[in-house]
Amino acid sequence: MNYYRPVVRLAFMGYGHVARETIKLLHEKAASLPFSPAIAGIYTRKLGYRWVPGKAFFPHEIVQELPPARRVQGGPHKFIERVQADVVIELTHPNIDERGEPAAGYIRTALETGKHVVTANKGPIAFHYAELLNLARKHRRLLRFESTVADGLPIFNLVRYSLPLTRIGRVRGLLNSTANYVLSRMAAGVPQMRAVAEARAAGIAEADFQLDLDGWDSAIKCMVLANVLWQPIELENITRDAFDQRAQEIIARAAASGGKPQQVVTLTRSENGDVHAAVRLQVTPPGDPFYSLSGYDLGLILETDTMGNLFLVEQSPGLRQTAFGVLADLVDIYLRGIAPQREPTLFDADPEQSATLTDDA
Ligand SMILES: NC(=O)c1ccc[n+]([C@@H]2O[C@H](COP(=O)([O-])OP(=O)(O)OC[C@H]3O[C@@H](n4cnc5c(N)ncnc54)[C@H](OP(=O)(O)O)[C@@H]3O)[C@@H](O)[C@H]2O)c1
Repeated sequence: MNYYRPVVRLAFMGYGHVARETIKLLHEKAASLPFSPAIAGIYTRKLGYRWVPGKAFFPHEIVQELPPARRVQGGPHKFIERVQADVVIELTHPNIDERGEPAAGYIRTALETGKHVVTANKGPIAFHYAELLNLARKHRRLLRFESTVADGLPIFNLVRYSLPLTRIGRVRGLLNSTANYVLSRMAAGVPQMRAVAEARAAGIAEADFQLDLDGWDSAIKCMVLANVLWQPIELENITRDAFDQRAQEIIARAAASGGKPQQVVTLTRSENGDVHAAVRLQVTPPGDPFYSLSGYDLGLILETDTMGNLFLVEQSPGLRQTAFGVLADLVDIYLRGIAPQREPTLFDADPEQSATLTDDA
């Protein structure tokens, strides 16, 4: 069927694994997208700018080869200001030591210069969510970040669109594939460093794998969840188990009891509104929903006052799932922020519940 599809111009900050996979997916889904995506520019530290002023490239034109390089004076912020894009897709590094900078700054510049933003980068959303959301509202732009937690598992879009009026009291999650894979392999008798090497070969371990094993990665994801679902929590207030001090003990206890050793995230909001978060190495008994997860699987349980416990599982997630989260956000931005007609949703009707999740565009 032929019908008119408006062009949506995209600029990529960062052009690594996730960006390339996203462009592949845009290419693969081109026929069913409600818009025509066109890449107006790409920026990375080493490559500099890749764009041709006044021209945008369709995904099939750059799946194989990038457009010609062109350096423009002024650095990344100048690029974001000048690029003729409707949406900036921010896919640079989290830089936890720098509290999500410079990526957060890229997002600020994009919103201030009238671009919607999709990011898979947990750094800015962990450390600057409230500020960035306010900026998005001020400029009547949308900020989406589905892939920041659990590689594209639809958590935020589920809460945003499918759980109106719902209170979430507790969240439990297996949010780090590497830690849980390494624990399961060690439980099967594989030495720790061999298990880490396997996770690296599969492309899932952080360059510094201790960030996975010691719960730093999961703790940052806790911050994102707390920010979006409830209220901010500081990194230093999240309890974490050091892997080397506790893993062997947990593995032994799991073997003795018939359970599984796992790194489990727990976030709770108490009656008085306080938020507590922990990333613990623990034994998961048979009968617990997480007992069924293995390998690189990720899972999340939302304890709600409307739907009981919702258990979401992502089996063996990879780049495709992360890229799909970016694509889903892009489609959402198109439908709500860019498409000329906008249907009100149930969620819009409840300002109390939607305080942190709706945007005003
Ligand atoms: N990979 C996954 O499975 C996954 C899953 C969920 C979320 N994420 C998140 O998605 C984001 C992208 O991940 P990735 O795997 O695609 O990373 P990647 O392959 O390492 O690519 C990162 C890209 O960002 C660029 N970059 C880094 N710092 C920059 C800066 N300060 N300014 C401009 N460009 C910069 C790099 O450019 P140079 O090469 O020129 O330095 C590179 O092109 C990260 O935030 C990651 O945490 C990834």
